[in-house]
Amino acid sequence: MSTIKLPKNSIEFFKNNQDEIFKTGKLAEGPWNEELSKKIKIITNVKNAIGVNSNGSGIVALLLIYKEYYGRTDVMIQSNTMYGVKTMTKTAGYNLTNVIDCRLETLMPSFEDLKKAVNSYNKETEKLVIILSDIGGIINPDIEKIVKFCKEKNIILIEDSAHSFGSTLNKKFSGTFGNAGVYSYYSTKAIFAGEGGVVVTNDNNIGDLMRDFIAYDRFKRKMNIGCNIRLAELQALMIYSVIKEYAEIIKNKFEIAKKYLEICKSLDIKYISQKNDLISGNYYKFTIISPRKNISELLPKVKTTTSKVYEYALGASKEIPLKHLCLPIWFNLEESVSDKVVSELKNSLSLTI
Ligand SMILES: Cc1ncc(COP(=O)(O)O)c(C=O)c1O
Repeated sequence: MSTIKLPKNSIEFFKNNQDEIFKTGKLAEGPWNEELSKKIKIITNVKNAIGVNSNGSGIVALLLIYKEYYGRTDVMIQSNTMYGVKTMTKTAGYNLTNVIDCRLETLMPSFEDLKKAVNSYNKETEKLVIILSDIGGIINPDIEKIVKFCKEKNIILIEDSAHSFGSTLNKKFSGTFGNAGVYSYYSTKAIFAGEGGVVVTNDNNIGDLMRDFIAYDRFKRKMNIGCNIRLAELQALMIYSVIKEYAEIIKNKFEIAKKYLEICKSLDIKYISQKNDLISGNYYKFTIISPRKNISELLPKVKTTTSKVYEYALGASKEIPLKHLCLPIWFNLEESVSDKVVSELKNSLSLTI
């Protein structure tokens, strides 16, 4: 299969700037972390952006901060998310009190699913954090209602935006809806740079605590928690080089998606839309869903796929892994691959109709 490539402009920008890092010897805590933070703040219109070495380290740090300074001890996650989101909660010493159901139509919980989970929680919500994962490249379509509800109930909402850098809902960027959000730039992501993450928040207190946390608070020496989860300068430059091209990358993926959208519409195959009046996604995944039967029965000939969003479910319902598949969609995907997908879709349906 093909490998995922970075835009040429990103590679050139990285090469043109890496020598300066070696010349100045600023390999850590230097100007590229600053530049990356500024760039993210400009793109996403957020007040604080702090580079960390992964999405997971950022979420664990946030959980620890909310435990130490805001008295939070309990957490809920959604059933359709990466297994690691569950391990993050225990790593931070939280009680995982519930796993919120997800819908096949979005692969995420609806407002009603989240409300139901919170209503079944029989303790004070002042102890609670919810980690809501944006899945497949779009923001949870119900996020505005969810944010309002969490504010009313004094629940901390962490937006796990590992998949959704550059995506918007009502023109507002992913990661900026809840109390804090965290992006991932891990190799497989839509906008990827190998490794790394960025924590974003409009809460200046959380921003300050996070900046001190990642330096063990070694300058002020007031905090009891903290760890070096910083982003190396070379990696900060790498992420900067990629995100400066983020709009180009997404545009390219929308072009590839056009072909899939056409064939899905003509064969009446259901898919998860990444563009409507409300949302604009980044096409991390092009996801086909099959509400009535298992996807392998609906599309038996489709073999040119990329990995499912998740092969497993963390909650009770196992419907999502069985009823979706993802078509290859990455930056500059070869036309031969997308052509093969189209012919496999056609072949599958001519067999089953
Ligand atoms: C939903 C979700 N959250 C968090 C992560 C963790 O990201 P990272 O590898 O940057 O820690 C991933 C992916 O790997 C993910 O899919």
